[in-house]
Amino acid sequence: MANIMTVLNMLEEIEISMKNLYQWLSEEFSDDLELYRFFQRMSREEETHAGMVRYQKRLIRQNPDSFDEVSVDLSELREFLQFISSIPEKQSNLTAEKALKLAIELEGMDEERMYRDVIVESYPALKELIHNLTRSDEEHCVFLKNFARRYLDASPSAENKKH
Ligand SMILES: [Fe+2]
Ligand SMILES: [Fe+2]
Repeated sequence: MANIMTVLNMLEEIEISMKNLYQWLSEEFSDDLELYRFFQRMSREEETHAGMVRYQKRLIRQNPDSFDEVSVDLSELREFLQFISSIPEKQSNLTAEKALKLAIELEGMDEERMYRDVIVESYPALKELIHNLTRSDEEHCVFLKNFARRYLDASPSAENKKH
């Protein structure tokens, strides 16, 4: 059982952990201005997504009726969150190619997408927010793939380049 605020707090935490992950990646590649700026921009955009969740929290607070407990299993969302947070300590010999692939993978995680459908079913009030967050992920995927193609083509040695 969880109420809508618990779910929103978790969604916010996921956006913040993505923001931190991109911030970390930008610092890992701080000697490569193009990559640094790219990951910084991704990080700022995740902050914007967190802001979308916070806005929804403000709306919900004005409507106490929506605080009903709903039976929803948050364990998968929690696992996803732990997974993102544990990434920096698990990475060694990170190359630009690896970092970009990792980001593309995270933005397209089916596990998280599936979970979003469960949230919308349990909390119809969150439909628009969930839709917007999903669209943001899709935009990130496209943006990442385009950048990766351009970047890796332009510097064939990038896959071997250690930070
Ligand atoms: Fe996001
Ligand atoms: Fe994203």
